[in-house]
Amino acid sequence: MSYNEILKGFSFDKEVERLEKQALLGVNKELKTLKSLGIQENSLILEVGSGPGIYTKILLDKFKNSEIVCLDNNTEMLKHSYEILHEDYKDRVSFINDDIMRSSLPSNYFDVVIARFVFQHLSYPERALKEIYRVLKPGGKVIIIDVDSGLWGLTYPNNQLINNLNNQLSAFQSNKNGNREIGRVILTMLKLLKFKNLDIDALINHSEILGKDNFRHNFDIEKVKDKSLYGMMKSYNDFFDLKNSSIMILKLVFYGEK
Ligand SMILES: C[S@@+](CC[C@H](N)C(=O)[O-])C[C@H]1O[C@@H](n2cnc3c(N)ncnc32)[C@H](O)[C@@H]1O
Repeated sequence: MSYNEILKGFSFDKEVERLEKQALLGVNKELKTLKSLGIQENSLILEVGSGPGIYTKILLDKFKNSEIVCLDNNTEMLKHSYEILHEDYKDRVSFINDDIMRSSLPSNYFDVVIARFVFQHLSYPERALKEIYRVLKPGGKVIIIDVDSGLWGLTYPNNQLINNLNNQLSAFQSNKNGNREIGRVILTMLKLLKFKNLDIDALINHSEILGKDNFRHNFDIEKVKDKSLYGMMKSYNDFFDLKNSSIMILKLVFYGEK
């Protein structure tokens, strides 16, 4: 429920724009990491929380003979992904409206499961991991890309308002049954569920390399009802107008095998 609650504060189109920006930020490095984790060209991949399908398209283009099943419990997101992918990738993509915490997917079926920026929104992440374990073939791989607010990132110069925004977003997500401190617990959950060959990596997106504009947010400011959140979001964007200001943000990549 967490993500759908958050969506109420933003217009759908703005959220798709935000996700597109987020999907493209540092994507080449991210794909290298996926490749190094051993995703084969002809894999059957389950993409959990595939959202608007923008990241799915990136995966379909990179892993040319792979087939991807998009699973999302948001009808509007699935519809968007169907519209942008169906025509060009007919034989390689399918769509399922389901909840990863209690899915109706077959057991021992997928080579790879990818969940990107989804676990922070789940009220019962261990249930989702149990499901993922069940649907993976023996030897299959799970890759979770997510954040932890404690390792979120740094700004130069140090900016207290941005630090506060990070804390405020964490509190906001906890109120909606999500968890922006999910990064610190994922490996332990994977271990308890008997996933093997665990690994973790961090990818850093830096504005000196990727350009400040790619970090600015197109928040739907008029829709943000909470005044202090509004102030922080605005100061986040204003920060980038400062001469020589920069930001580095961490994405965490978790890996395990069934
Ligand atoms: C922040 S978006 C990320 C979209 C995409 N993975 C990306 O990286 O661009 C999170 C997505 O997870 C989906 N989601 C959240 N909880 C879910 C659940 N329990 N089962 C399936 N999908 C879920 C949301 O509907 C949303 O589309």
